Amino acid sequence: MSDGSVAAYFAGKTVLVTGAAGFVGSHLCERLAERGAKVVGVDNFSFSRPDAAKGSSALELVTADLRDPAAMKALFERVVPDVVYHLAAVANPRTCKQDFPTAFDVNVIGTQNALRFTPAGARFLFMSSAAVYGAPEYLPIDEKHPRRGADPYSVTKIIGEDLAANYLANFGRNVVVVRNFNSFGVGQTGDYIVPQLIRQALTERKIEIWDGRTVRDLMYIDNTTDALLVIAASGERTIVNIGAGRGVTVGELAQTISDRFGGAIPVVDLKKTVLGSPALVSNNERMKSLGWSERVPFADGIEKTIAWTRSMIAAAPT
Ligand SMILES: NC(=O)c1ccc[n+]([C@@H]2O[C@H](COP(=O)([O-])OP(=O)(O)OC[C@H]3O[C@@H](n4cnc5c(N)ncnc54)[C@H](O)[C@@H]3O)[C@@H](O)[C@H]2O)c1
Repeated sequence: MSDGSVAAYFAGKTVLVTGAAGFVGSHLCERLAERGAKVVGVDNFSFSRPDAAKGSSALELVTADLRDPAAMKALFERVVPDVVYHLAAVANPRTCKQDFPTAFDVNVIGTQNALRFTPAGARFLFMSSAAVYGAPEYLPIDEKHPRRGADPYSVTKIIGEDLAANYLANFGRNVVVVRNFNSFGVGQTGDYIVPQLIRQALTERKIEIWDGRTVRDLMYIDNTTDALLVIAASGERTIVNIGAGRGVTVGELAQTISDRFGGAIPVVDLKKTVLGSPALVSNNERMKSLGWSERVPFADGIEKTIAWTRSMIAAAPT
């Protein structure tokens, strides 16, 4: 799809984004507003980005909990969205393992609430994860690859996907499932691989990695939001991978970050066991066939993310 037809699709549409104050949600809301959509975000601010309050001028940001059916019913009935992006989740695999009951309630019951209260004619996008694939049988991973993810986060995403498929098959809903690989960029914090390594480089002047051989498909967030817009506008109702189609080892990532500091930051490989799949690389042919391509190169994304993390550290109270 051309940029023009994506913009035409969203112009004047009411779009509800769950998890709007999170890393992906905040970027998505901004991009939708730029495309002329009336954007309403919802979040309970449990894992929101530290600078979420700034928000976008075009955005109404509602504080509510996806687990609360009465609050969701009232919100969806008031907003009457044309498009729903369901992003809210306990998105960190380690947090899902530490507190599975909460992860289940948010990622499964929350997804059921979002599906249940979405108006019958609306477009619904469920944000799943490449984690559902588990240890790969082959690389790159296409959408037909079996779902072998067995860690608590993957389990909640697999159930969420099945709920979405149920609403498509049995209740005639206009649903699409997105399996995102690894987005990184401005606004991402916590113990995700890219912000973690950049923060170490900036504050500790060394980078410690768990296992340098782990492979991830890392892509700058602007490319992810481009894809999310194209998928909703395309009308696609199957499953779509979002990823760069390029594997980067954690060792290479650490070295790339170290190189930005003139190679002065030593990299230490702790050789520890990593939660989740040893290698995730997307086959992104389906995404490309919808007219999408990667706009912001990996290296530029790393530069932007270092600059943002540096500014956040500088602004933090000492
Ligand atoms: N970032 C990635 O690379 C990536 C990869 C694959 C899938 N995903 C999926 O994309 C989505 C967004 O991920 P993210 O990286 O922006 O995570 P995030 O943690 O930054 O954002 C999730 C948002 O959901 C909100 N939320 C959590 N529980 C809620 C509740 N009960 N009610 C309302 N809001 C609630 C949080 O406060 C947070 O703002 C998630 O579904 C995640 O599983 C992300």
